[in-house]
Amino acid sequence: MVVLKTIFKYLLGFFILIQVIPISYEEQKKVDSALEMKAPAEIMGVFKRSCYACHSNETVLPWYSHVAPFSWSISRHVDLGRQWLNFSTWETYSVEEKDKKMGEIYNAVFVAMPLRGYVSMHPEAELTPDERKMIRDWTGKAPF
Ligand code: HEC
Repeated sequence: MVVLKTIFKYLLGFFILIQVIPISYEEQKKVDSALEMKAPAEIMGVFKRSCYACHSNETVLPWYSHVAPFSWSISRHVDLGRQWLNFSTWETYSVEEKDKKMGEIYNAVFVAMPLRGYVSMHPEAELTPDERKMIRDWTGKAPF
């Protein structure tokens, strides 16, 4: 028992300690609708449901996103996700960038996106085979 108590105390101490490690990411940024991607409503609906958590400035964060160690993984995904593709600032991309990102979206919706770990906690983000196909067709791209 004593050993367990000691272990618990150390774990608790560690948990409290890691809370002070600063992480930097902006939760929700200002959204300028003029810069947001314009696509047919059914396409935008899918993006908002399945991709906006990480690929937009409208990230809605759950309470545990402020608790380390979850905050580390979530902030990394949001930061990286926005760097790769941000639907909220789509119109700031050049014509070439948009074209390249359309190809990436085509490939990403085969399997990789939305991230599996995210879907396991947010089943509503899962895409149906029909939705994956609809998005691929809409990009007008071909495999790789
Ligand atoms: C839980 C966060 C999260 C969600 C939800 C998510 N992504 Fe991503 N996405 C990322 C991260 C992080 C990266 C950076 C590359 C990596 O780590 O795999 C990325 C990379 C990408 C890329 C560029 C890299 C590549 O694979 O070509 C595209 C395109 C993309 N995501 C599209 C989407 C689409 C479309 C959706 C919705 C169907 C989506 N993502 C949902 C986090 C997410």
